[in-house]
Amino acid sequence: MSEQNNWKNLLQHRISRRGFLRGISVAGAGMAASMLPVRLARTAALSASAARSMGPSFTPIAPSSADDLVLPEGFSYQVIIKRGDVFTRDGRVFGDNADWTGWYPIDALKGGSSAEEGLLVVNNEYINPLFVSGYVGGVKTLDQVAKEKAAVGICVVHIRKENGKWVVVSDSPLARRYDATDRIAVGGPAAGSAALNGATEVIGTLANCSGGQTPWLTALSCEENYQDYYGEDKNTLGGGYGWHDAGADTEGQIPEHYGWVVEVDPYSGRAVKRTALGRFRHENVAIAIGKSGKVVAYMGDDKRDECVYKFVSSKTYDPNNREANFDILDEGTLYVANFGRGTWVPVVWEGNEQLLGDPSKVGGYTIASQADVLTYCAQAARALGGTRTDRPEDIEINPANGDVYIAFTNNSSHGNFHGQIVRLLEDGGDHEALTFSWDIFAVGGPQSGFSSPDNLVFDTNGDLWMVTDVSSSSLNKGIYKFMGNNSMFYLPTANAGQGTAPAYLFAAGPVECEMTGPTWVDGSTLILAVQHPGEETEEPAAPTSNWPDGPGTEPRASVLAITGPFNQSGKYDPLFYIPQA
Ligand code: FEO
Ligand code: CA
Ligand code: CA
Ligand code: CA
Repeated sequence: MSEQNNWKNLLQHRISRRGFLRGISVAGAGMAASMLPVRLARTAALSASAARSMGPSFTPIAPSSADDLVLPEGFSYQVIIKRGDVFTRDGRVFGDNADWTGWYPIDALKGGSSAEEGLLVVNNEYINPLFVSGYVGGVKTLDQVAKEKAAVGICVVHIRKENGKWVVVSDSPLARRYDATDRIAVGGPAAGSAALNGATEVIGTLANCSGGQTPWLTALSCEENYQDYYGEDKNTLGGGYGWHDAGADTEGQIPEHYGWVVEVDPYSGRAVKRTALGRFRHENVAIAIGKSGKVVAYMGDDKRDECVYKFVSSKTYDPNNREANFDILDEGTLYVANFGRGTWVPVVWEGNEQLLGDPSKVGGYTIASQADVLTYCAQAARALGGTRTDRPEDIEINPANGDVYIAFTNNSSHGNFHGQIVRLLEDGGDHEALTFSWDIFAVGGPQSGFSSPDNLVFDTNGDLWMVTDVSSSSLNKGIYKFMGNNSMFYLPTANAGQGTAPAYLFAAGPVECEMTGPTWVDGSTLILAVQHPGEETEEPAAPTSNWPDGPGTEPRASVLAITGPFNQSGKYDPLFYIPQA
């Protein structure tokens, strides 16, 4: 790896330059007036003048190691749904370890923005076999695998408020489940390709970590650690959950059927894997609309030493015709970020035949088509000069100015133990640009109070909320002791570009959990998931956490709503970025 494309060197250079940047306004600061969020057939609730960075609206809490969800004074929470709850008419269950959540108001297709009733799309990332299938060792039975298959994937949960409380509408025709057994169509260049054994439809979705919402109101669900289920590829079948060893892949499942972004229309149920976005450990997607109207999707490959990507569609977004946007993510160009040069490098077969044709340069894979490039994307992207970074988790776009924020969680192999949040500024403020600059927004460690940033969400003021993901085995110990349990922080963006941002501790989760999937329903309601409470439990009879049901119960990963004085400017509306003409 060349010095100018070495992430560790690049980070250290940026951190040491922070002092010189103080007080100097940088590109992007003047963009607020020229960019407004626009939403399909709806009035944007956020005006540029309203989108002002605020200070915290709460008194920060102290770090906590309690088996409880701790919030500042004036805030409270209600659990909406837990692992194992039945939520559809056909008796399907809410899965384990929820990650991304997305809010789809029940009346949104008619231009409404109900904060009282809607569809909550939730990813179920992975399973704790001890609680889900009672697995304690050996080869799994097919019955155990069936329970585990039912606990991953995507849920579309219909919820509404009754007498001030959220209830699940389990007799709703709109409530749907996509687990590891449901048939899902495949779209884009790899559909039907040899790499996928010719599949145009595959069995199931799994490893669904974070995701994103599109301006045409579909959900994008990201298949991340797919290798744990059926293995890495056709030549290395296996995987930590032992499904292959248990003989549970008799319907033609191969690892190449997973590791994609799945687009789901929560209102109709249509679901398609979008192969043009590449196959890797997909953490998330953040969508923007470029200056010429193309759809831009920012994505991270959350594996040590892997890359940041963006996809730019061939066709332009049509704000007046929802249907016209449905397959827009099937056609376009995928790029990988070179942070040393500040360039987006096309990850394409055409013109790169020689480089990609040599298997030793692409992880041993024989690359003979664009379908192969997309299927073995990480290897191809590295070979083309993608910067190998420190585990990009979430990416979000600031509604106030279009700046792209990336949470690099940590990378112990680089000696980066606490992670950073980086700000990427596209040249000309255009998300379709092929060149960019970047700086460091916030730095994890005892000085800031947080470690290992993961999911991000902006509020209507353009300020950032972030949840952390220190591994359960490291929490409250050694160099991670200062933070306590995994937590949620608020980081105002007012001084972005002038110094590293302070982080205010807003919430602390129960024992051994990670909080995930922050999503606003309106200016006073935040949806959040509590993933893997009590993860270090060895004996089901003696769990290390009893959250949320209390003493004597086993822990259950759940989704909840937090309400309180978040002090946001007006009505919340999901935010997308279309430059004004
Ligand atoms: Fe599933 Fe990268 O978090
Ligand atoms: Ca994550
Ligand atoms: Ca997010
Ligand atoms: Ca994580």
